[in-house]
Amino acid sequence: MARVAVVGSLNMDLVIRAPHLPSAGETVLGGTFATFAGGKGANQAVGAARLGATVAMVGRVGDDAFGRLLRDGLVHERIDASGVRTNAGAATGVALITVDGAGQNTIVVASGANAAVTREDIDAAHNAIAQSAVLLLQLEVPLDVVRYAAQIAHAAGCMVILDPAPAPGQPLPDDLYQLLSIIHPNEVEARALTGIAIATEADARRAAEALLARGCQAVVIKLGARGAYLATGARREAVPAIRVTPVDTTAAGDAFAAGMAVALAEQASVQAAVQFATVVGALKVTRMGAQPSMPAREELREFARQQRVSLPFQ
Ligand code: RIB
Repeated sequence: MARVAVVGSLNMDLVIRAPHLPSAGETVLGGTFATFAGGKGANQAVGAARLGATVAMVGRVGDDAFGRLLRDGLVHERIDASGVRTNAGAATGVALITVDGAGQNTIVVASGANAAVTREDIDAAHNAIAQSAVLLLQLEVPLDVVRYAAQIAHAAGCMVILDPAPAPGQPLPDDLYQLLSIIHPNEVEARALTGIAIATEADARRAAEALLARGCQAVVIKLGARGAYLATGARREAVPAIRVTPVDTTAAGDAFAAGMAVALAEQASVQAAVQFATVVGALKVTRMGAQPSMPAREELREFARQQRVSLPFQ
């Protein structure tokens, strides 16, 4: 069984679908409001579980209704949530999200309990992490904890995948890159990490080279509707997108991370993992919400048949 561990955030997403995204000082009369279970970490955990992995999640929620809902949601997905601690001193993380008619979004996060994840939480989950084939990380919990979890996973021979989101305000530590099997920034995050604005495939290649030079084994630059750019020691390759009409791009990167993790945990090559993840991300954006829109494996197979794309493995 493919084992995946996730260290990261849990948020309740408060989402308004609006005709367009507001600019500063603007009030936009929106359409519909809904709450969805979210948080980059928990989204990735649910995504991996629905694709068939055995998943353990490490994080924190507050002692409140949102926290209970989020934890129960993980348990319902058969995720081991014993590493999700309840933090009495802070509220559960909340994300205020606006989604426009083209599926684009803006997100503001109040981190709450996510900011209270500690090294001790990682120590308590040591076995779950060390026994996993892949560890998924993002940047919505403290960077020191992310780095510590990466050290433990790397020492145990577990692949470490970092989604450097939200875009960090300062450079990531050099030694973190050396622990990473894959880093997968989007265009905004790639620019924050490298200073290179990504307008063309050549830009993506330059950014990927810069990140590879810092010591990670593979770089995937996510280019949204333009697909992805993969760079490893031996390979440079543009991976085409699957054309869909987006409904909501929220958590597309999380679906992508989950797809890569499950593929790699099932022994796929990095190239096949990125192709598989591209299909997972494409199906996700056709549906509203973060966790509810994560595809199950059979849904993915059916979507691939409808789209006439071949999955690199079933
Ligand atoms: O990646 C999407 C997620 O970012 C949302 O679910 C929101 O909670 C924020 O963490």
